Amino acid sequence: MKHILLFGRGGQVGWELQRSLAVLGQVTALDFDSTDHCGDFANPAGVAHTVRALRPDIIVNAAAHTAVDKAESEPEFARSLNAVAPGALAAEAARIGALMVHYSTDYVFDGSGQRPWTESDTPGPLSVYGRTKLEGETLVQQSGAQHLILRTSWVYAARGGNFAKTMLRLARERERLTVIDDQWGAPTGAELLADVTAHAIRHLQHRPQDAGLYHLAAAGETTWNGYARFVIDHARRSPSGGSIVATEIAPVPTSAFPTPAIRPGNSRLDTRKLQATFGLTLPHWQTGVARMLTEIL
Ligand SMILES: NC(=O)c1ccc[n+]([C@@H]2O[C@H](COP(=O)([O-])OP(=O)(O)OC[C@H]3O[C@@H](n4cnc5c(N)ncnc54)[C@H](OP(=O)(O)O)[C@@H]3O)[C@@H](O)[C@H]2O)c1
Repeated sequence: MKHILLFGRGGQVGWELQRSLAVLGQVTALDFDSTDHCGDFANPAGVAHTVRALRPDIIVNAAAHTAVDKAESEPEFARSLNAVAPGALAAEAARIGALMVHYSTDYVFDGSGQRPWTESDTPGPLSVYGRTKLEGETLVQQSGAQHLILRTSWVYAARGGNFAKTMLRLARERERLTVIDDQWGAPTGAELLADVTAHAIRHLQHRPQDAGLYHLAAAGETTWNGYARFVIDHARRSPSGGSIVATEIAPVPTSAFPTPAIRPGNSRLDTRKLQATFGLTLPHWQTGVARMLTEIL
C-alpha cells in the first residue's frame, strides 16, 4: 500500500485532498500546527525531517502563503512557505525516490495579452506571491525528484470564506455592486483540483514519464464581474437564495480597487497538455460554481 504524506490539510485544496487521496493508499495529513510531526513551512528543516522520519511514497503539498496582498509586506515569510519549504520537501523526495506533488498559480505570469498561457510560456510574476510561487516551482523542478506541478487559478471551495459568499452577502445588503471586469480567468473548485490530482498520481504510477508541469483550471473564462453575476443570478433563481436586493453589478477596472499586490489581467490557462496527457475533460467553471452554490445556499 502506498503511503501519502499531505501538507496543508486544512486549506481549501488540502481539505478535498484528504478525501480524494484516501483511495490511493494510507494518508498522513499534516497542518502547520500538527503535533506528531512538523508540518510548519516556516520551518523548512522541520518538514524535511518529517519526510525523513515517515519515508512516504508520495508527498502532496497543498500548504502555501496565499494571502496575496499580505505577502507584499512579509516577503521572507512568503518565500519560506512558497519556495524554501517546498524546495526542502522536494530535495527529500529526490533522496528517497518519492513523487512530489505541488501546486502553483496563474500569478507566475505577467497577465499580458489575451491568449491562454501554456506551460512553455515565459513567466513574469508581478507580485511577491507570484515570485515566491515561481521560485517554489523552480526548486521542485531542480530537485531531481519525480514531480507533478499543477498551476491553477481562482480557487474556491464551499468550506470557509470565498468570493461567491462575499458577493451573496453584498447582494443582500446593497442595490449596487461594483466588481472588477478586466481580470480574466476561470474559477476552479478545490474538489476538481483534488480529484484530478488523485487521477494524475494514479496515471503516473503506470506512466512515470508523464511527470512534469501542467496547467489545471476549469474550462471557459470570465471576469470577477461575470463570476459575481453568475453567483447572484443563480441565487435569485434559487428558492433558498434569500432576498437579493442588488439590481446592478457595475463593471469597474482593477484601478478602482487599489491593492498592495498587482494582479495579472490575463489569468487564462491553457489546459490542453493536461487533458491530452491524462485523458481528462475539464468541466466548465459554471458547473462547479453552481454545485458549490447548491451547497451553500
Ligand atoms: N486560492 C487561490 O485562488 C489559488 C489560486 C492559484 C493557485 N493556488 C495554489 O493552490 C494551492 C492550494 O491553495 P488553497 O486555495 O487551498 O490555499 P489555502 O486555502 O490558503 O490553504 C493553504 C494552507 O496552508 C496552510 N498554512 C499557512 N501557513 C502555514 C505554515 N506556516 N505551514 C504550513 N501550512 C501553512 C494554511 O493554514 P491556515 O488556513 O491555518 O492558515 C492552509 O491550510 C497553493 O499552492 C496555492 O498557491 C491557489
